[in-house]
Amino acid sequence: MSTTLELPKLYSEAKDFMPLNGTDYLELYVSNSKQAAHFYKTAFGFQSYAYSGLETGNRDYESYVVIQDKIKLVLTSPLKSGTEVGKHIDKHGDGVKVIALWVDDATLAYNNAMERGARSYLKPITEEDENGKVVRSGIYTYGETVHIFVERKAYNGVFLPGYKSWETPHFNPAPVGLKFVDHMVGNVPLGEMNQWVQFYEDVMGFANILSFDDNDISTEYTALMSKVMSNGNGRIKFPINEPAEGKKKSQVDEYLDFYEAGGVQHIAVATDDIISTVRQLKSRGIEFLRVPDTYYDAVTDRVGKIDEDIAPLRELGILVDRDDEGYLLQIFTKPVEPRPTMFFEIIQRKGAQSFGKGNFKALFEAIEREQELRGTL
Ligand code: FE2
Repeated sequence: MSTTLELPKLYSEAKDFMPLNGTDYLELYVSNSKQAAHFYKTAFGFQSYAYSGLETGNRDYESYVVIQDKIKLVLTSPLKSGTEVGKHIDKHGDGVKVIALWVDDATLAYNNAMERGARSYLKPITEEDENGKVVRSGIYTYGETVHIFVERKAYNGVFLPGYKSWETPHFNPAPVGLKFVDHMVGNVPLGEMNQWVQFYEDVMGFANILSFDDNDISTEYTALMSKVMSNGNGRIKFPINEPAEGKKKSQVDEYLDFYEAGGVQHIAVATDDIISTVRQLKSRGIEFLRVPDTYYDAVTDRVGKIDEDIAPLRELGILVDRDDEGYLLQIFTKPVEPRPTMFFEIIQRKGAQSFGKGNFKALFEAIEREQELRGTL
């Protein structure tokens, strides 16, 4: 099987019985929400936005919400032992629990999903405060990860009922130019990829717009397979990875070993100026994967003419790839928690709608060098 990219005409073929307006928020269960919020502000340029905890009457959890353009991260920790959040953190470490999707009707989205075979996480619930009401509902996806549908058309408050505005007048590091979530990748155990492809087709009305097999994604040691699922309007894209047999343990195997389940492997966030964004992120301490310098000797031959000078790309370690529609620039952070699990991708699209297939080999060899250091290859 070869790589096929047919965008955007396949979007119209997605059976769009579940219109999604976009990503609403991502909730990470973390072991220290207060310090995590500080990290996302200081290192990634997010802004203080909303808070829920003891001061808002929440006796169980503390959540900080940080924002950058359209991206909202909710960072949640338990305030006592024995909670669902605490158990989740104990098993998986820090990671993405909720991929929340913005809908016009959270009850309809839930009913549609349940009729089509979803597993319930949260029955539709209406939460209200003086600023209006929000309806939320939720279903499970891979591992213990969930989708929450958020209907907020009747709400004018900050974030959600139960949250208050979080302001930090004396500490507001500047944003770094992150705009929106471009795609989110899930890792699932061997043999489960097609099951989750089917789930997104049947339950969510997504279409499989792109596939990679182990001939596309393999190095001397590791291999993986991936299928990209997209919703009808193309705003939500979820590549699903599963390990393929390699000579040594693949990066997906390493993830599954440490997360102890399927889960979100990376969050790709878009920028309009990747050179500026990455320069700022590096100066704030974010660590990126690095490909060998020789990558840049051949890059112009491979991708042709691009608007950017190669020198800053080489200096910063930014990767380039081209498809039929244009090119893209991308770079990957190292994992952002103790376990080698979730990481971020920074991506700038200049026409290309694909995912950087031409970089897979160099990138995976860079990951293998990291795995070697961790003793997990
Ligand atoms: Fe990606």
